[in-house]
Amino acid sequence: MEALLGSGLFLSAAAFFYPVLRFLVPPKEADMGSGSVIAAKTGDLKPNSGKIFRFGSRPGLLVRTTDGEYKAMSATCTHLACTVQYRDDTREVWCACHNGKYDVNGRNISGPPPRPLETFEVQVRGDEIFVRRRQES
Ligand code: FES
Repeated sequence: MEALLGSGLFLSAAAFFYPVLRFLVPPKEADMGSGSVIAAKTGDLKPNSGKIFRFGSRPGLLVRTTDGEYKAMSATCTHLACTVQYRDDTREVWCACHNGKYDVNGRNISGPPPRPLETFEVQVRGDEIFVRRRQES
């Protein structure tokens, strides 16, 4: 009986402390360095559309403009870190949390976002679209 109670207490404590520990000690972020990720295949996006992709531990947003040009940027809103999305009706990047708006170059144009989104380099190689951080010069 004591063993049963003891293990129950241990499991309850573990269930409580594990999430607290995970919050206090965040997982190591993948070091993107100058590495690039494949954000999409060329056939994935029609003009005037966008796609969320994984960039390290954060979401990225790949946009194909009406001209067919690719733009890539962080999908983390600079206001309170909600994930932004591309809206084909307004042709803008939009944050649903507080109606923040950015243009397709990541510039904050209205609403509460205080800064532009970080933009990334885009390279099309074959049928794959690679995205990487801009190199500091
Ligand atoms: S979190 Fe994006 S506008 Fe507030």
